[in-house]
Amino acid sequence: MHKLFAEELEALRARSLDRHLREIRSAQGSEIEIAGRRLINFSSNDYLGLANDPRLRKAATAAIDDFGVGAAASRLITGTQSPHLALERALAQWKRAERALCFSSGYAAALGTIPALVTKNDVVLLDKLCHASLIDGAKLSGAILRVFPHNHVGKLESHLEWARREHSGKRVLIITESVFSMDGDRAPLRELVHLKKRFDALLMLDEAHAVGVIGSNGRGLAVAENLNDEVDVQMGTLSKALGASGGYICGSRTLVEWLMNRARSFIYSTAPPPAIAAAALAAVDFLASPEGEERRLLLWERIRSMQGLLPRAELTEKQSGARSAIFPWIVGDEKAALNLSAALQNEGFFVPAIRYPTVAKGSSRLRITVTAAHKEDQIRSLCQAIKGNSL
Ligand SMILES: Cc1ncc(COP(=O)(O)O)c(C=O)c1O
Repeated sequence: MHKLFAEELEALRARSLDRHLREIRSAQGSEIEIAGRRLINFSSNDYLGLANDPRLRKAATAAIDDFGVGAAASRLITGTQSPHLALERALAQWKRAERALCFSSGYAAALGTIPALVTKNDVVLLDKLCHASLIDGAKLSGAILRVFPHNHVGKLESHLEWARREHSGKRVLIITESVFSMDGDRAPLRELVHLKKRFDALLMLDEAHAVGVIGSNGRGLAVAENLNDEVDVQMGTLSKALGASGGYICGSRTLVEWLMNRARSFIYSTAPPPAIAAAALAAVDFLASPEGEERRLLLWERIRSMQGLLPRAELTEKQSGARSAIFPWIVGDEKAALNLSAALQNEGFFVPAIRYPTVAKGSSRLRITVTAAHKEDQIRSLCQAIKGNSL
């Protein structure tokens, strides 16, 4: 067995597709310490700089004092401690939904929710660039899976016609993301809602990279476009702009009660630590406050700076729109992406190379993320370094 995997690892190395862990000897932030060096960090999803915020730290430590560390059991057994319920109430109110349900991660939310909604003989229609958690959830459901080209409303429409013709009477679930994690562009939500209504389908929207970034007080794309009542299942994560950890689903009371009864990653897994729920609650409270909105507007100033300073000739149409905090710098070749990332690291920047299978073969890239914690001059110097290394 050892020999078999050693050979496969060697094959990955030969194609520059092997992965490694790096030890970070500091809290997350706009600067991190790797291998004894402080690097300016353009790799994180901590878009609002909350992962090490005193408000979240204080809430977590206070909850440890009151509730201890571990949750001891599944939420349905003895694991539902007060911070979980307080967080779900606050999340539902903030997202303008009837109810919310939290999971131990965004990945677990997708894996538990999709198979609870659809099963064998139902149909899932998934955007080609959807995150692995959504793909895995869709596969696990056993439903018939069709992928539509990225944001291609026309192709989705023909898939819907096919589904209604060939699988009449079955459930049809459309799954997409508000902001695509490796490309930073947005879904055409209004058109998707129009189609889902026309074909009587369900719509699930993963807001992982939109909450905290898009819409008033960072409520995400569905609320920003006033479509939250039309999106049947709003998924999100507490692990990115909210600076904590965990995933959630927002929607109707019935949806949440159904998931409590059917989502296996919720039912058969120990509840997240109460301190993490308390930290996430502090993040939601912050986001809902005027100060939180100020922080979000500061993030957009930084996004616009990055958009203005990244060497323009290299920007694709998609990138130049600055629709989110994610800027993909497409390199193409796997080795070339690793080399560019290493060259930037030598100059003091941490910007990891994203390769297959996270993105398609030959579309390797640097995934540059901007946060409200970055200073203008950090953004300026990164852009100069990219320019210098891309000549
Ligand atoms: C679009 C998207 N959905 C879901 C997830 C999973 O969320 P979590 O990290 O909380 O498991 C991620 C995280 O990488 C993501 O980018």
